[in-house]
Amino acid sequence: MNNQNKRSIFAHSKTKQNNIYIMTKAMFINGSPRKNWNTAKMLESAMLGAQETGAECELVHLYDINFHGCKSCFACKIKNSKTNGICAIKDDLRPVLERARQADVIVLGSPVYYSYPTGDIRSFMERWLFPVGTYMYEDGRHITLRDKIIPTAMILTMNCPKDYMQQIGYPAILEENAKVMDDIFGYSETLYAYNTYQFNDYSRYDFNLFSEEDKRHYRDEHFHTDLDNARQLGHRLVEKAQRQ
Ligand SMILES: Cc1cc2nc3c(=O)[nH]c(=O)nc-3n(C[C@H](O)[C@H](O)[C@H](O)COP(=O)(O)O)c2cc1C
Repeated sequence: MNNQNKRSIFAHSKTKQNNIYIMTKAMFINGSPRKNWNTAKMLESAMLGAQETGAECELVHLYDINFHGCKSCFACKIKNSKTNGICAIKDDLRPVLERARQADVIVLGSPVYYSYPTGDIRSFMERWLFPVGTYMYEDGRHITLRDKIIPTAMILTMNCPKDYMQQIGYPAILEENAKVMDDIFGYSETLYAYNTYQFNDYSRYDFNLFSEEDKRHYRDEHFHTDLDNARQLGHRLVEKAQRQ
């Protein structure tokens, strides 16, 4: 089977169709500039859960890709045009967005930078979400151009400990992302990893806001649970996609 045929099959279903079993396709988008640190590890664990549940998986590192956010050209909204529902910008993100259109599950991962996901993940979201969402309402409901529920999630890693992030109102800000994804794709979750360990060798950096020892203990005691939660998330989302 050539790639073209594979793609068109992914676009339709992941159940048994005409006696062909179609695999669930899951995409994991890393919005951290670091490829081997907290966010990437959480995504890899989610990917493992998805693979164990039978999904074909792809991990994309956004910082490898030369792209910008939405340019507000509205080509994705022009009536009866071939770009309706599709981002028309021709740059290096285009093939990634094309694969995202074929995906059954999409998990975004980002560090928290100044209370928000990174600029690259926000730029990706603009390009990925805006063409599928519409300005159309029917029977009081927002119409989106997806033809089925695509389970989505955002994994967020942060320096803040859990109590402090709750105290300063991070959930209200950060969970807006999942609300938008839920509105457009029909399902979304948010998963956090708190109080992350940031450097290999703290002695090399100006740093006295936290205790390195406390951070190390927290990581040793909690990060494996965070990774396990990510693995279960991958498992859960793929199962949800397969049940449709
Ligand atoms: C530019 C920058 C801004 C940050 N801002 C915040 C912040 O507002 N709140 C927070 O809890 N952590 C903040 N952090 C810490 C990161 O969110 C945290 O270390 C994260 O786990 C890093 O992810 P990574 O290991 O995948 O790169 C910031 C880090 C950087 C580099």
